[in-house]
Amino acid sequence: MAQLIARLIAAQSVWAKPFGDRVQGLVHRAFHAIPAIRDLLNGRWLGHPLHAAMTDLPIGILGLAVVLDLLGDNFGAAIAVGLALLGLLGAALAGLADYADTDGTARTTATVHGTIMVLSTVLVAAAFVARDFFSGDAPGALGMTLEVIALGLILAGAFVGGDVVYALGNMVDRHAFRGGGSKWIALEPAELDAGGSIPEGRPVKAKLGINALVLVREGDRVLALHDQCAHAGGPLSGGTLVDGCLECPLHGSRFRVADGRVVRGPSVYDQPVYEVRRTEAGGWEGRRAGQQS
Ligand code: FES
Repeated sequence: MAQLIARLIAAQSVWAKPFGDRVQGLVHRAFHAIPAIRDLLNGRWLGHPLHAAMTDLPIGILGLAVVLDLLGDNFGAAIAVGLALLGLLGAALAGLADYADTDGTARTTATVHGTIMVLSTVLVAAAFVARDFFSGDAPGALGMTLEVIALGLILAGAFVGGDVVYALGNMVDRHAFRGGGSKWIALEPAELDAGGSIPEGRPVKAKLGINALVLVREGDRVLALHDQCAHAGGPLSGGTLVDGCLECPLHGSRFRVADGRVVRGPSVYDQPVYEVRRTEAGGWEGRRAGQQS
């Protein structure tokens, strides 16, 4: 069953890839022109993707509308359809903000998800308009049919949206499974300056065991974050320093170098921070910050 559905979704790439590439470009430009709104809709202030937190409510309310209709509560069902419509529009805005920074297969699958959700929202709007609010009678067949079809479509769209997150890892913290480790281990900067020190004032890639780090030296102090961006794995060592933050070269998330705090999305997650110190032999060693020895 799962393979059949996966094949069905994959088959949509014939239209979803070219359509998604075009639409996502427009959405990307629109949201990057208003970074504060994009951050709000991504959920950076919440430390959690806002879209995921907003989607359950309209689905539940639309299900309630169907139940109320079956019970003959026309007015209650009409209110529920209206609230579901508002919830769908809110969730769509948050979803669009996430969609603005998707790539590859995630973008194509998110295009399928978004298209189904737009169709569903249009059907819910039609179900709302088709109602006679203040009639005490049960709703007409048209309103109920539209509601039920919309609910089925929304559940299908939610399934595809689940794939975008759970199977393709979109908006998932890239460091969710990264362990700590209290042991200091040798740090190997990828480059040194003429004096044999870590170059100052720009990001420098380094290796700490199996982890890639990005270093920023400020005088005697060496600040270090994990090199892989929490949003979608972009290399922070290829980014730029802006106001004490590292800006990711892929989608522009900014992380404070001093403590890894995300100060601009689309990432909603902070970046792992590492401690660095000199060794007696004159090299460097490091470990994940906040670990007890
Ligand atoms: S990978 Fe998307 S902002 Fe870094």
